[in-house]
Amino acid sequence: MQLSRIADDMNGGGVLSMEISVSPVHGRFVAEVAGVDLSKPLDDDYFHHIHDAFLEHSILVFRGQALTNEQHIAFSRRFGELEIHTAKHWLLPDFPEILVLSNRGENGTRPIVNGGAYWHSDMTYMAKPPLGSVLYALEVPPEGGDTLYTDMYAAYETLDEKTKGRIENLEVIHRYGDRYQMMASDDNDRPPLTPEQLAEVPDVVHPMVRTHPETGRKALFVNEGFTVAIVELAKDEGEALLEKLFSHSVQPAHVYRHRWQAGDLVMWDNRCTMHRATEYDLRYDRAMHRTTIQGDRPA
Ligand code: SIN
Repeated sequence: MQLSRIADDMNGGGVLSMEISVSPVHGRFVAEVAGVDLSKPLDDDYFHHIHDAFLEHSILVFRGQALTNEQHIAFSRRFGELEIHTAKHWLLPDFPEILVLSNRGENGTRPIVNGGAYWHSDMTYMAKPPLGSVLYALEVPPEGGDTLYTDMYAAYETLDEKTKGRIENLEVIHRYGDRYQMMASDDNDRPPLTPEQLAEVPDVVHPMVRTHPETGRKALFVNEGFTVAIVELAKDEGEALLEKLFSHSVQPAHVYRHRWQAGDLVMWDNRCTMHRATEYDLRYDRAMHRTTIQGDRPA
């Protein structure tokens, strides 16, 4: 899919030619977008083109970007208001919309090592989980530290009909505190969540199968990170079903591995994907900035 356009160059009075190309790199699930400089304001035509690609592909990769914090935020805001994460110790001073995922910390933020090293969708423990996230790589190790993404439309569509029928009307509980605490148990850089922070993130109940509000496609909406129980089932039965669904979701055919280069920006649709960070040699720096776009109540 390509969009070419000649636009008036308001500054020089000449013409500016920009061509955006969207090339699938992992079937329909992931596409690389070339020919766009995200440091510049996007006019509506280009924004709509990128937005359409986002709905078509779920994961968009933009290579070779050089963004200030303000530019990263401005691009993300084209898709909606931004979340401010509960764990304030990871928020960039002066830019609370930016969550710093850096193993050295930045301007006083707490270091975070393999913070997202479990399958999850971001912040599904909220009543209105985020629409998506925009992750920008500042520094990356020479190898490792990849991010894996899995396609939750495909996870749903490849279930057998009996399982689809069984889960159609089930609801699940999502929780933040347990996962945070589990990660904190072997990470001295994670301060305990305060009672006020925990009160900001009470348990929430979401449907197990979600209809995407923009594409109308159905996706499995459970994740190992934050989904703790099935409302309608006894504990053991619920855990067994969740385990089966988690492993079905992350089979290799559904998974894309992103090998980062500094300057990459990857945005994903949180409503129909999961992701997971992978390990790397901690002698190297890994520093990423994430913005998170507000979403709506799953239906
Ligand atoms: C995240 O879980 O949002 C970040 C993943 C990563 O650091 O690779």
